[in-house]
Amino acid sequence: MRIGVLTAGGDCPGLNAVIRSVVHRAVAHYGDEVIGFEDGYAGLLDGRYRTLDLDAVSGILARGGTILGSSRLQRDRLREACEGAEDEMREFGIDALIPIGGEGTLTAARMLSDVGLPVVGVPKTIDNDISSTDRTFGFDTAVGVATEAMDRLKTTAESHQRVMVVEVMGRHAGWIALESGMAAGAHGICLPERAFDPGDLVKMVEERFARGKKFAVLCVAEGAHPAEGTMDYGHGEIDQFGHERFQGIGTALAYELERRLGKEAKPVILGHVQRGGTPTAYDRVLATRFGWHAVEAAHRGEFGRMTALRGTEIEMVPLAEAVTELKTVPKDRMDEAESVF
Ligand code: F6P
Repeated sequence: MRIGVLTAGGDCPGLNAVIRSVVHRAVAHYGDEVIGFEDGYAGLLDGRYRTLDLDAVSGILARGGTILGSSRLQRDRLREACEGAEDEMREFGIDALIPIGGEGTLTAARMLSDVGLPVVGVPKTIDNDISSTDRTFGFDTAVGVATEAMDRLKTTAESHQRVMVVEVMGRHAGWIALESGMAAGAHGICLPERAFDPGDLVKMVEERFARGKKFAVLCVAEGAHPAEGTMDYGHGEIDQFGHERFQGIGTALAYELERRLGKEAKPVILGHVQRGGTPTAYDRVLATRFGWHAVEAAHRGEFGRMTALRGTEIEMVPLAEAVTELKTVPKDRMDEAESVF
């Protein structure tokens, strides 16, 4: 069998672990040939690829990013990719394509599958917002980075009696903010799923100071937004990939709190630090299992599906099911952390 693999969309820790696992299972066990397309679907369209043998994936398990490179494709090029994909697959002699990516990548995978191509998807995103899988790899690493940052910020915040507003990733789903905020014991968490009132945060900080706890750390998802009429703030326009541009809620909220409280409030934007560097052990294991199962599915001819973690087992679920809606934080998970909302 000849298997093509690509990584698309925003990178995340664990992508290399999937690539390595695909190659190990396919080459060492089945005697397959694996080729890796460069820079996501762009490499498939432009015919840029290289052979991935066991040597090519040696030493990459713990490495962040992706050795294949990644990119986002505009919708028009995506459509173009679908139209030309059958010819390209024939030209490259590929029997199965394994795209590893988030919602956009899996939507493209589904489009390719719908036109009859043999596709097995592997979900990834630090946001953990893909429905049908309990977890995506990269999330655990991102939560760990954000938690450590807040642990560190607490000590300096306390020394200077400051409020730290830590902005983490998460456009529409606040999983990173929820879990890192809980793990770090943040004093307030703001998620995209529930509008916040800055007045509540002011009250909470004032109460803390009155109790002698003269600092506070707030964890805010980049997609969090104030309730209407509570603060002058608006998210931005839509970019060329159909994603909303964010204007920096962390910075806006820090300034707002400083103004209302008359105390120093500092914004800390963690940004792409959350996506870089080595994956945690959990993410390496999940990524490795996904890669193994993707190759197995390809050999069973089980196309149009993606790997998914269900409980402790890896299952194959229809791509169609995976991309219909984003997995956002449900109310009961917010209720569990109620004291910080
Ligand atoms: O989708 C993953 C993600 O890291 C989001 O959390 C974040 O909003 C976005 O990608 C950032 O994208 P880019 O790397 O293109 O700035």
